[in-house]
Amino acid sequence: SQIQALRAALLHWYDREGRILPWRVRPEDRAAGATPDPYAIWLSEVMMQQTTIPHGTPYWHKFLTLYPTVEDLAAAPLDDVLTHWAGLGYYARARNLHKCAAIISEAHQGRFPETKAELLRLPGIGDYTASTIAAICFDQPESIVDGNVERVIARMHRVATPLPKAKPEIRRLAAALADPDRPGDYGQALMDLGATICTPRAPSCDLCPWSDECAAYAHGDMTAYPIKTPK
Ligand code: ADE
Repeated sequence: SQIQALRAALLHWYDREGRILPWRVRPEDRAAGATPDPYAIWLSEVMMQQTTIPHGTPYWHKFLTLYPTVEDLAAAPLDDVLTHWAGLGYYARARNLHKCAAIISEAHQGRFPETKAELLRLPGIGDYTASTIAAICFDQPESIVDGNVERVIARMHRVATPLPKAKPEIRRLAAALADPDRPGDYGQALMDLGATICTPRAPSCDLCPWSDECAAYAHGDMTAYPIKTPK
């Protein structure tokens, strides 16, 4: 079907062109049996949600060096964690990070819950982070939608509703496309596509695995999407 062809094209692109990120388990390593560490993924997603990957990556390395496990993070004094967080902003996130680490260490024996619903009960874990951990670490069929993914989907379907009102519609469209066999790779592939090809101002449609099926590309009005409500 068309959806299966889109999934296959995106995953094929990701297997060749996906970014190399330090927390990411590459498809070939995954095929050889490597699995992502939920603690490392959780840290990366909480950090990168509020900053760019170049700015956030050194913090991720620092935290994993200082606190190699969720128990180490839970055992650290909050003030130390806040000090090491300085420069990432939003200290409430660091407080939640520490609180979440304590709950996972104590109530969950150091293991992250595996479903989105259970992850959502933890402090500081919202829709995006819960979906991402569940898909990447536990192969749950959750779709991952960040700002980059919203742009890809809005262009593919020429979503006529402006953001932020279009969010539920974009979520539905993204969920319909998501790959149940490789949900983590699929979600990260879409994030990479939005970050590197389907960029806001000058998308590289000639390199895009989805251009044949992209409604905005067919109309030549890619940069009109996502439509935003005038401020
Ligand atoms: N941005 C934040 N986390 C990401 C991930 N896992 N893949 C691609 N982009 C990201």
